[in-house]
Amino acid sequence: MSVARAGDLALLVSPDRKRYLIRLQAGGQWHSHRGAISHDDLLGQPLGRTVHTQHGDAFLALEPSGNDLVQELPRMTQIIYGKDAAQILLRLNLYPGRTVIEAGTGSGGLTLLLARAIMPTGRVFSYEVRADAHAVARRNLDNLGLLSYVTLYNEDIAAGFHESAVDACFLDTREPWLFLDHVWAALKGSGFFGALLPTTNQVSQLLQGLQARPFGDIAVEEVLVRPYKLVPDRLRPEDRMIAHSGFLVFARKIAAQDESLRWIPEKKRRAYLGKQAMARREAELAAQREEADDDEEAVPE
Ligand SMILES: C[S@@+](CC[C@H](N)C(=O)[O-])C[C@H]1O[C@@H](n2cnc3c(N)ncnc32)[C@H](O)[C@@H]1O
Repeated sequence: MSVARAGDLALLVSPDRKRYLIRLQAGGQWHSHRGAISHDDLLGQPLGRTVHTQHGDAFLALEPSGNDLVQELPRMTQIIYGKDAAQILLRLNLYPGRTVIEAGTGSGGLTLLLARAIMPTGRVFSYEVRADAHAVARRNLDNLGLLSYVTLYNEDIAAGFHESAVDACFLDTREPWLFLDHVWAALKGSGFFGALLPTTNQVSQLLQGLQARPFGDIAVEEVLVRPYKLVPDRLRPEDRMIAHSGFLVFARKIAAQDESLRWIPEKKRRAYLGKQAMARREAELAAQREEADDDEEAVPE
């Protein structure tokens, strides 16, 4: 935006560095304990300057970043941290025109960043099991003008995804390892998978699940951001930081029949193939059990 127009979002930063997101409208007023700011003082002018309340208190008016939009989002679930979202966008190789599945939508924090990455020609397919969260996310995305780039489903992903051959899939759910077969089926060959998990034991379970299936190039990471005190002649880190948000797991879909696995060292390759065989056997046994149960139910009294 070269100048601020009615309908634009603007970020006001207070002298004590509090941040407020406002939607500009002609004749509008924004009120705080420091006094009011008239939207008309911002409209028709470039952002990136100081505006004053009637009491003379100064606020910095800026164009909001994606991180500001996520931070200020009305929410009812834990929302993604900017540091993790940035890594997810990079690792899932998202840019305009790409397609990505996400679950769960939550309040739409990550969804809005995914939409901004793939728009205007790509698409986000986002699944959420809770009706209340689904409704909040829809409202949030609509308010930000992003709904037309997103398909929102109020569905449990245990039933699978509607899409196939998508570029990427990201899971922010408690037990992502339960849905890996659905993920594999929905991704295109070489497609990008990612998940966010708060605890290491969940990461271990997901790793076991990925290693038992045709996924490769697996990585586990965490992103730490250490902010600094803004004192040039005594520059040092802040005393506090976000020490833990979650662990990120990434992997790529590989072909089911790709058993050459030359990219894995010999010893690990054998273990990998063994796990795949065990997973196949378990799936066969589960299918046989289900069939036997069905037959029993079908026997007339
Ligand atoms: C931590 S929140 C997601 C937050 C979201 N990434 C954001 O940035 O706003 C996890 C969400 O996953 C949803 N969820 C959990 N299991 C699910 C499933 N099987 N299918 C669809 N949604 C699921 C939960 O209801 C919850 O809203």
